[in-house]
Amino acid sequence: MAANKHDLVIIGGGPGGYVAAIRAARLGLDTACVENAPALGGTCLRVGCIPSKALLESSERYWEAANEFNRHGIKIGQLELDLATMLKRKDGVVRTLTKGIDGLFKKYGVTRYEGVGSIPIAGRVRVEGKDAGELETTHTIIATGSKSATLPGVEFDGDRVGTSTEALSYTEAPKHLVVIGAGYIGLELGAVWRRLGSEVTVLEYLDRILPGMDSEMAAEAHKAFEKQGLAFQLSCKVTGVKTKKKGCEVAVEGADPIACDRVLVAVGRVPNTDGLGLDEAGVKRDDKGFVRVDERFQTNVKGVYAIGDVIGGPLLAHKAEEEGVACVEGIVKGYGHIDYDSIPGVVYTHPEIASVGRTEDQLREEGISYKKGVFPFMANGRARALNDTNGQVKILADEHSDRVLGVHIIGPRAGDLIAEAAVAMAFGASSEDLAYTSHAHPTLAEAIKEAALAVHDSQIHI
Ligand code: NAI
Repeated sequence: MAANKHDLVIIGGGPGGYVAAIRAARLGLDTACVENAPALGGTCLRVGCIPSKALLESSERYWEAANEFNRHGIKIGQLELDLATMLKRKDGVVRTLTKGIDGLFKKYGVTRYEGVGSIPIAGRVRVEGKDAGELETTHTIIATGSKSATLPGVEFDGDRVGTSTEALSYTEAPKHLVVIGAGYIGLELGAVWRRLGSEVTVLEYLDRILPGMDSEMAAEAHKAFEKQGLAFQLSCKVTGVKTKKKGCEVAVEGADPIACDRVLVAVGRVPNTDGLGLDEAGVKRDDKGFVRVDERFQTNVKGVYAIGDVIGGPLLAHKAEEEGVACVEGIVKGYGHIDYDSIPGVVYTHPEIASVGRTEDQLREEGISYKKGVFPFMANGRARALNDTNGQVKILADEHSDRVLGVHIIGPRAGDLIAEAAVAMAFGASSEDLAYTSHAHPTLAEAIKEAALAVHDSQIHI
């Protein structure tokens, strides 16, 4: 079969790859996207961000119905969990969104090939699978993402001992779920199953949860999760997991094994470069397996680029999207822009935890003098009306210039609120800029204004 020719072939149809493909097509490149899974959207849409958020929403409503409605004066009869419907709704959300990308590809003229892509040599992409063939291309972008990391002594059996993929589809709430790793995935999915009735034990190797997040926020989150009934064992080294006839047993160093019926392993992710033929093509990787790129996202092989999780940094869908757009704009226009200092991170638990810029720990380590303003949601009218007053906003600003260096929020809708802080930081705003911007009343966002006022000891409502 004669090779099909394209200007750009992107391997991987996740948030990095599909967004890059749409941007490239809109900029006039003849663009193709090779994706192995029948549905576009990658881990994020199919088995990550989106289904987990669907389940977080549903489980939170169930929890609220059981524990919070009475405070609003709403009485309900016998509450019942219909997990099958909950899972079906989640699958429906995923289906609608992944189909939506098919529609966008058609609208903008991106050619889609279903199969595993590899790079035998720069300028060629081989497709194996449904749309098998060989593609000729001027530029290639590797956007193959990441996969769950494993632990020595722990083998996934795709059922009782698994990753987030399995934990998004348990057909009944486990009696006792052991989560290994108190990071983003462990806490989000641990929270889902706790709300749906499971006993959940989270084992974390470090002496704190959420490494990398501001330690004060993480400590507050830890307390809130414990109140919700999540049990934590910190400084805990898992040495193995045994699957038994009924359930499993998790072995930990220096303590008794823990019996449970399911294990979720969430100890980070590793780059997904399987079957890409990177060695054949001569594409270099670092010692952790991440593809090495320059500031234009080009690998050491001319015309071969890489973006998203596969190049490391924060493994976040929106970071991959920014890189995809910057890479394509670099190819077409000669320049592309990405501001790594203003990429937010969000943990979608309840309370939500959101962060942008430097943490207080980082500022201390780097010896940067800073001022700090804090405002608790307890003193925010909207949070009171919502009956959701746990948490606070913390703003860190440069001691001398007042430029905002970091914003950390724990509390209701923190993930949405952090966008304002990201925009402020992208524009180099000072905390005074935030403090003197009118924020609608009554909104949760007023807590940001008040925290900015607090940087100058000018807060009003506390
Ligand atoms: P993570 O890096 O967030 O957390 C992994 C945790 O496992 C860490 O706390 C680590 O100390 C711990 N750990 C490592 N080895 C261990 C061991 N042997 N025993 C016990 N604990 C151990 O990784 P996670 O949660 O797997 O998420 C992977 C990636 O996916 C993250 O980089 C995250 O950015 C991304 N993600 C983002 C989400 C979001 O934006 N809301 C949601 C889910 C994932």
